[in-house]
Amino acid sequence: MTRKVLITGSTGYIGRRLKDLLLHRSDLDLRLLVRNKSKVRGSVLQKVTVVEGDTFNQASLLEALQGIDTAYYLIHSMGSDSDFEERDRVSAGNFRDACIEAGVKRVIYLGGLGVKETASAHLLSRIETGEILSARPDLLQTIWFRAGIIIGSGSASFEIVRNLVQKLPMMITPKWVNTRTQPIAINDVLDYLADAIDIALTGDLIVDIGTETITFRGMMKATAKVMKLKRVLFPVPVLSPKLSSYWLILFTPVPFQMARALVEGLKSETVVLNDHARTYFPRITPMTFEASIQSALEEMEHHHVLSRWSDSSAGDVTDLRNQDGISNAIYRHRRVFSLDGLPRERIFRSICSLGGETGWFVLNRLWQIRGLIDKLAGGYGLNRGRRDSRHLRVGDALDFWKVADLQENRRLLLVAQMKLPGKAWLEFDIQPDQLIQTAHFHPRGILGRLYWITMLPVHQIIFGKLGKRIIRYAAELPPVTD
Ligand SMILES: NC(=O)c1ccc[n+]([C@@H]2O[C@H](COP(=O)([O-])OP(=O)(O)OC[C@H]3O[C@@H](n4cnc5c(N)ncnc54)[C@H](OP(=O)(O)O)[C@@H]3O)[C@@H](O)[C@H]2O)c1
Repeated sequence: MTRKVLITGSTGYIGRRLKDLLLHRSDLDLRLLVRNKSKVRGSVLQKVTVVEGDTFNQASLLEALQGIDTAYYLIHSMGSDSDFEERDRVSAGNFRDACIEAGVKRVIYLGGLGVKETASAHLLSRIETGEILSARPDLLQTIWFRAGIIIGSGSASFEIVRNLVQKLPMMITPKWVNTRTQPIAINDVLDYLADAIDIALTGDLIVDIGTETITFRGMMKATAKVMKLKRVLFPVPVLSPKLSSYWLILFTPVPFQMARALVEGLKSETVVLNDHARTYFPRITPMTFEASIQSALEEMEHHHVLSRWSDSSAGDVTDLRNQDGISNAIYRHRRVFSLDGLPRERIFRSICSLGGETGWFVLNRLWQIRGLIDKLAGGYGLNRGRRDSRHLRVGDALDFWKVADLQENRRLLLVAQMKLPGKAWLEFDIQPDQLIQTAHFHPRGILGRLYWITMLPVHQIIFGKLGKRIIRYAAELPPVTD
């Protein structure tokens, strides 16, 4: 019998991979609730039903949950400018009530390991979410997974550990690098989540998942071993969470708010407190920490990073929908370049390789300084890089930009996520014989207008040369190999 399954959060780190995994199951009829349909690939749209909406919109929730047997709750509001704890409470309450109204049989939720008494604000919110979802066991069954650090290509924890180990031969660390935790590989998490549809169960269940117990220090050492590097760590008692977070944002791709939440989380022990994983999911044996690092590194090497921590909108209502505001932009800097007889496909490939390790072709040093300023101001900065060095999709982060629109061989629209006194976009429109490159800016108040005017000379240089360099790079590109 076909079972109807709803996945929420399917444009995020966990949900995107879970959706890909469940798409292979012919016994499931999948539906997605997303905030922005353009983030779902065309090939996926053909196989699933997609409802556009969110957990604060009751009508969209009911539409998404109608006729559903099992619903995944893979949502959080961390990163919101407004009170994320309150948003998470309301979101979970709305979801539970809508599930009950729609007659959903089972909700599967993934939260964090840890206990209330010592939990950070982020973790506490994850615990509260689980409690709210499972508050009506008489009407709705809940399977609540609790995971600590998740290791996989593109996961924030993995990228932090990998970057620190790769970049720093010696590290001064806070004393709580000795806190114990139980990480888990992303593929094991996905197996638990997927199997939870099938297990026979009466009543609710909390399942703690994780591999061997290890300290953060142990994780760094083990990662260095897998990467065949020698690393020395010096724990000192004086490093505060704030200082450690600044340290993290300089050497890793995560922004300050995320670094702070992760650092706070490391202060308290996050270990498995029940053996329900073994009892209810005996077929799954979590891989070791070292194996999970190895597997994540291999995925990166093979350009197989299916999702990344930066895929979601970091709590905002949606990070992309306001691309429509582009028509209201007050300032524009437009340049037109001849394609010099090159096919559009080559120009598109060249544009799609911008950012990350390729850089920005013109005044790279200046871009880097701008990135550093952005990081120090709490933004994403340049070292967020990109998920995949060759391919892009809508929603992908590109340094301090995000892909807002992508039309094969025709158009790339980037929306700026750097700290700016206004809203900015960078558009590449590939015509049969010319490339139209436009920077759009909608200033916020007088400061925004001043910013644009001050930046004019820099923009003249950057945007004047960028298009030319894109075309030159396109001419030098090797032929497509896959
Ligand atoms: N990633 C980890 O390392 C980790 C570790 C332990 C536990 N977990 C848990 O796993 C769950 C999923 O985490 P994640 O890392 O996959 O998060 P994520 O990458 O930030 O993705 C969050 C997803 O939720 C969607 N979303 C946010 N608010 C929404 C709303 N109000 N209505 C509808 N959709 C909404 C986002 O959509 P947009 O794309 O539109 O933003 C995105 O698809 C969370 O409960 C988290 O606590 C994660």
